[in-house]
Amino acid sequence: MTTRIIVLAAGKGTRMKSAMPKVLHRLAGKPLLGHVLDTSESLNPTSITVVIGHEADQVKSTITHAVQWAMQTEQLGTGHAVKEGLEGIEDDDTVLITYGDVPLTRASTYQALLDVCNDKTVGLLTLIMDDPTGYGRILREGGAVVGVVEQKDASSDQLTISEVNAGVVSIKGGTLRDLLSRIDNKNAQGEYYLTDIHELAVKDGLSITAVHPDDAWEVDGVNSRSQLARLERLHQAQVAESLMDAGVTLADPARLDVRGTLETGRDVVIDVNCVFEGHCVLGDNVEIGPNCLISGSTIASGTKVLANCVFENASVGENATIGPFARLRPGTKTDNNIRIGNFVETKNTHVGASSKINHLSYVGDATLGKNVNVGAGTITCNYDGANKHQTEIGDGAFIGSNSALVAPVVVSEGATVGAGSTITRNVPADRLSLSRAKQTDIENWSRPVKNK
Ligand code: UD1
Ligand code: CA
Repeated sequence: MTTRIIVLAAGKGTRMKSAMPKVLHRLAGKPLLGHVLDTSESLNPTSITVVIGHEADQVKSTITHAVQWAMQTEQLGTGHAVKEGLEGIEDDDTVLITYGDVPLTRASTYQALLDVCNDKTVGLLTLIMDDPTGYGRILREGGAVVGVVEQKDASSDQLTISEVNAGVVSIKGGTLRDLLSRIDNKNAQGEYYLTDIHELAVKDGLSITAVHPDDAWEVDGVNSRSQLARLERLHQAQVAESLMDAGVTLADPARLDVRGTLETGRDVVIDVNCVFEGHCVLGDNVEIGPNCLISGSTIASGTKVLANCVFENASVGENATIGPFARLRPGTKTDNNIRIGNFVETKNTHVGASSKINHLSYVGDATLGKNVNVGAGTITCNYDGANKHQTEIGDGAFIGSNSALVAPVVVSEGATVGAGSTITRNVPADRLSLSRAKQTDIENWSRPVKNK
């Protein structure tokens, strides 16, 4: 069976009051349309066609999925939009039609619709809602679905129907093409409604099988920022639930945001207000303190991240302590048992086992061996105004506080750099190197006193 998916995403989303097309607004860090396309791809269809119109170029340049684009230059309605997406679709194909602004429908729900579709049957996603306002209503006769009426075209009797059209349809390509050629725009909105195909289908002797989602939020569309925020919280609540199911302790499931994928080991503990972006991995017994932003990073077993740390594409070994207030920038990699303390910034740096950078330092473009101690206020001067240079610090070296290491420079094994030094030449192994003015003590000096 050849499955083809058409995603409608040409609308402007007027109620978002945005310069950006609605389908590019983000839920859990990913465009709404990206969610729909990820779910669509998981069904391995032969093709996915996205119908775009409003700000089409922005949509095309943001979305990286392998899809076919179809243009709907004027938004004349959902039926018209599907027509624009029919290219390449054969009569015998099974077509699934979805909306780019309904991000959280499960793949299993799409699959259930595909499963009921055949030459005689159209699948339609519907559900009973406490407040059906705004949705198309499902018309039934003797229990069978006979059509869909839009809110704006419904009689007062029809408005009391609580079964609504979620929008997703499965239908054979030939049937779809034929029915779409017969719909008109004589309705309250002057639009070609996709929903008009159902009444025509029933008249042709086809039947409509209603499929229901497991959860009502699967059909929630985003029309306003308020709905987007509500759906974000719903989604985050589910992510938190599944993390807890997997054995993670969350100080407050309502104060965690995962904008990507978070892999966790056993007995991970996450304090409040943490945000995870991209793909992150936390090993067994990792503890994350409050207010941390962890992006694209891996933190190995037993490591503690204290409050207010920021990680970006970093990888930390086992049993380390990071923070509070540490910033690990891209390319930071550490071995086990290291310590990176408060107000330390690292970038493109490898920190060897058991080394410490405890306070107030910038360490960039550097390689530290094991058991290195970097004193407070140490700066690797990696940038000469034009190029970046490397600093190398050997095993067991000790860098005194407030030192500037002017790269390119090597501090060899076991070397000690005296506090306050500016190091411009390589430091030999096992020596004390100093580059600071000697202290002078002036005798018989008296401190000035204020004039009366
Ligand atoms: C539609 C359904 C309604 C259903 C509801 C579920 C129709 C006529 N109505 O109404 O029965 O209850 O969805 O959410 O189908 N779009 C285009 N081109 C257009 C018009 C729309 O691409 O010319 C796209 C929009 O970008 C959006 C989707 O189609 O992604 C739905 O359009 P929208 O205007 O939001 O339809 P609703 O009024 O919500
Ligand atoms: Ca809508």
